[in-house]
Amino acid sequence: MAPRLLIKICPIPGTGGSMGDAKALKFAQEGAKSIGCDIDTASDAATVEAQLASLAIETYGLIDALYNNAAMAYMSWLDEAKNVYGTAHTVAKGGFTAMTRRLAMEGRNHGLRAKSISQGLIETLQTAPLLVDLDWTANVMQKIMLECSNQPAEISAVASFLASDESSYITAADIRVGGMAA
Ligand SMILES: NC(=O)c1ccc[n+]([C@@H]2O[C@H](COP(=O)([O-])OP(=O)(O)OC[C@H]3O[C@@H](n4cnc5c(N)ncnc54)[C@H](O)[C@@H]3O)[C@@H](O)[C@H]2O)c1
Repeated sequence: MAPRLLIKICPIPGTGGSMGDAKALKFAQEGAKSIGCDIDTASDAATVEAQLASLAIETYGLIDALYNNAAMAYMSWLDEAKNVYGTAHTVAKGGFTAMTRRLAMEGRNHGLRAKSISQGLIETLQTAPLLVDLDWTANVMQKIMLECSNQPAEISAVASFLASDESSYITAADIRVGGMAA
């Protein structure tokens, strides 16, 4: 099969983390020129200061697919002490689907398509401290319909499809990739 992302220019922030790393690898395997950055310079020596889009344009003259990957998760139940962060996390996750639709609507006359991935629990550097808590993990896992590997590759496979021309008739859509979490 021909590479999906041949000659695509794809900036991906957060490549020092698990999911960003997996996506950069998958996009490269699919023929893309990926440009990464991370605020954690210890985990990503190629860090550039939040000017990723400018760097891509200066280097290649255009951007084909921008993957907005970088963020920190603050998962907690509402009655826990850190629920301010947990609530902000929930609001942000709701907001990004609205922002996706808005980007798609405002960008449609410029050939821009916007899609989001709502992902379920994935084993990454960010979730590792939670996953060692067996009670927490058992509680979350019983809300997930499918038993699967929960690895970053589950997400990067969908991401490479969404960044490719194969998804040319998809915009303003949110794709749930989480084993159908309740
Ligand atoms: N792991 C999960 O189960 C899960 C579930 C839902 C959503 N997510 C989302 O997936 C994305 C990737 O997370 P992950 O699980 O791979 O975590 P991770 O900690 O392995 O990677 C996140 C990386 O993003 C970097 N980062 C954070 N803010 C940044 C910024 N402003 N600029 C550049 N780099 C920045 C961090 O330094 C880190 O290296 C995040 O947006 C997270 O909220 C993860």
